[in-house]
Amino acid sequence: MGKKLFIKTYGCQMNVYDSARMADLLTPLGYGITEDQADADMVILNTCHIREKASEKTFSELGRLRAQRHERQQSGRDTIIAVAGCVAQAEGAEIMRRIPDIDIVLGPQTYHRLPEMVARATRAREEKLGRSGKPFRGANLLDTEFPAESKFDHLPEAAAPQGVTAFLAIQEGCDKFCTFCVVPYTRGAEFSRPVQQITAEARRLVDQGAREITLLGQNVNAFHGEGPAGGSWNLARLVRHLADALPDLRRIRYTTSHPRDMDDDLIRAHGELPQLMPFLHLPVQSGSDRILAEMNRQHDADHFRRIIERLRKARPDIALSSDFIIGFPGETDADHRATVKLIEEIGFAQSFSFKYSARPGTPAAVLERQVPESVMDGRLQEIQALLERQLTEFNRATIGRRVPVLIEKPGRHPGQMIGKSPWLQPVHALLPAGTIGREVEIEITELKHYSLGGQPTGLQPAAGFAAEPQPERAIA
Ligand code: SAH
Ligand code: SF4
Ligand code: F3S
Repeated sequence: MGKKLFIKTYGCQMNVYDSARMADLLTPLGYGITEDQADADMVILNTCHIREKASEKTFSELGRLRAQRHERQQSGRDTIIAVAGCVAQAEGAEIMRRIPDIDIVLGPQTYHRLPEMVARATRAREEKLGRSGKPFRGANLLDTEFPAESKFDHLPEAAAPQGVTAFLAIQEGCDKFCTFCVVPYTRGAEFSRPVQQITAEARRLVDQGAREITLLGQNVNAFHGEGPAGGSWNLARLVRHLADALPDLRRIRYTTSHPRDMDDDLIRAHGELPQLMPFLHLPVQSGSDRILAEMNRQHDADHFRRIIERLRKARPDIALSSDFIIGFPGETDADHRATVKLIEEIGFAQSFSFKYSARPGTPAAVLERQVPESVMDGRLQEIQALLERQLTEFNRATIGRRVPVLIEKPGRHPGQMIGKSPWLQPVHALLPAGTIGREVEIEITELKHYSLGGQPTGLQPAAGFAAEPQPERAIA
């Protein structure tokens, strides 16, 4: 009988991608994914270290997991517990010390060694359990190396299709060392996959039904992968190549970008390639030049403004999203006002804002003048309210417009389908099931919280949920 694997994923899309690859790697060992943690023979926590809160979750979740393992052991069933991802990389030894019954701790760059580790953990647990008859503490296998070989060279073909929209990691790691950030330490040095490897994976995804691919990397626009005939390709060239090589790939996105790496080529591609979606997540963190310098972002606020200007010239309907850190050490009211001003000037379709979290080992953590929590709270509230207003405004502006929606899956109501607009807005409409994987033109008629509702323009207006929808008009 097959064994059951439960993976809990925290953090960014890179972790989502990695979790899927770990599942692929364990398929040959007989593991299939379960959604029921209590029933799992193996649980992997794929963790995130970016802020203190994210990282603390690992330890509380491990506590729950051990209790659950104990319960399963009462009925003669065992559970392998593994911690992967960025907390594993940063605090692997500490996890082993604090929680002796852990079996496996592995960093983001060694997950291709997981099958070997699982085989060893299984043997160790079986031997020791059999010998003593008592619950056994843990296999204690730790691998947080940054190996010379690339994990991507050791991946089996993806076992389960990802669906209409898929992630594809093309770049990993970071050499930028922003003073607040753990990523350069948890993911290691910047590294790009070769173009041929990426193209092969993209082709497989499209063959399995993907119509949209989001190219992933911690600094995805710093991509410099080896081209098929040698030499180094930039992201724009890769995107053009994928758009050319894969006619069934309707939409391409990429995330996360750094303002320093938005080159002319990439900006031009936004104006020239219909497959490249008019939505860009470009974290700026702050609107204050002084804080940007302290953060070691290596650009000022005007550099960001100029990029946005050029992007909008190339692709007037481009929507923007960003990340903001509120309360970086030394942030004054004037710095905060500069961030508010930048947000007001640009107008974002969506954004994320976080209170600064001091991370162990980062230069900013030991800076004096850490901002008091209450001050951070006030500033965060102001920024979040502003971003929320901009999001609602942006969504409201689509009402009455006809937009191409890539249909992804059935919605909650009978007959309802859900998809995304080019600007990443969730859209629902009454449509036949056969529309999954197709772009359908929808006239947007309503805004509900964060999603939009509408009518397919090629259909008779549907009379209630029971109505039998007519064949829709797909957008050519
Ligand atoms: N590579 C991306 C960001 C990766 S981390 C970039 O360069 O922009 C994702 C986001 O988490 C960051 O954009 C930042 O806004 C936030 N973040 C990172 N470290 C943080 C910290 N110590 N405290 C609060 N937010 C942080
Ligand atoms: Fe972190 Fe800065 Fe690298 Fe982004 S660019 S991952 S924020 S160090
Ligand atoms: Fe978190 Fe690591 Fe991603 S720290 S945000 S999971 S790169």
